[in-house]
Order: sequence, then structure tokens, then C-alpha cells
Amino acid sequence: MKIALGADHGGYLLKDALKKYLSDLGHEVEDLGTNGPGRVDYPDYARLVGEVVAAGRAERGVLVCGTGIGISIAANKIRGIRAALVSSVTTARLAAEHNNANVLCLGGRLIAEPLAAEIVQTWLDTDFESRHQPRLDKIAMLERPGER
Ligand code: RB5
Repeated sequence: MKIALGADHGGYLLKDALKKYLSDLGHEVEDLGTNGPGRVDYPDYARLVGEVVAAGRAERGVLVCGTGIGISIAANKIRGIRAALVSSVTTARLAAEHNNANVLCLGGRLIAEPLAAEIVQTWLDTDFESRHQPRLDKIAMLERPGER
């Protein structure tokens, strides 16, 4: 699977660890930065990853900032993105089963690498339950206010 990765300075260390983890599993990983501790703005990386996923140039995206909060808020502004801020294996599973989240957001200052890897793996391995599709259709309608 092709997965786009992005992070700010609060998340790049975890992003780099996940890059190695996902590459070792055989996924094609596109790293859209940032790649060092210099302060950057998380909406820029949410946009880079979100637009790649929304355009179908990657199947999934993973975004990391300090808490995961800001970068998830930003990513959800992009049409077609369903970004889930997740901090446990259970919410990772539910983000896939119920929400068909196409972007996973993590708090780089809050989650240790082994748990983050387990969370990402669970999200990738879990199938969407199609009975939830009508709710996702209603979310998509929120992106088109003139059509309501
Ligand atoms: C950056 O200092 C920090 O605000 C950011 O990484 C994130 O936690 C925002 O939600």
C-alpha cells in the first residue's frame, strides 16, 4: 500500500520511526517532511499529505504533530479526508471499522513508538464495515454546503 507521511517538529521523530516500520513491512512510503527539529507549521504538512490522499496519489496518510490535535483539525478541512486522531489500538480499529479513516493522526509527544506502530498496524489491517457508509455520505455532504 502507498502511504504518505507528514509531521511538524513535534512529530517528526515518531514519523521517521513509522516510516522505517512501514517500509520494513513492504509498504511504499512517501515522506513529505518535516525532517528536522526546526519549528514549522503543522497545517502545511496536513495539506501536503491530505492533498496527496484526496487526489488518490496515496491510499492512506499518517500525520504526526505534538498532540495530533492541530494536524487532525487541519487535515479534516480537505475535501475527501477523514482524519482520525487516535491514541489506542481500540480507537485505531474503530477509526477503520466505523469511519473508514483515510488519514491517521498521532501525538508525537504523547505516544511511544511501539504503541504507535501497533496503532498504525491495526488501522491498516482493519476493514471498513459498510453498514456505516450512510454516515460517511452525510459527512461528505457537509463538504458541499450548497448541495444540502
Ligand atoms: C507545536 O508546538 C504544537 O502546537 C503542535 O505540534 C501540535 O501539538 C498542535 O496541535
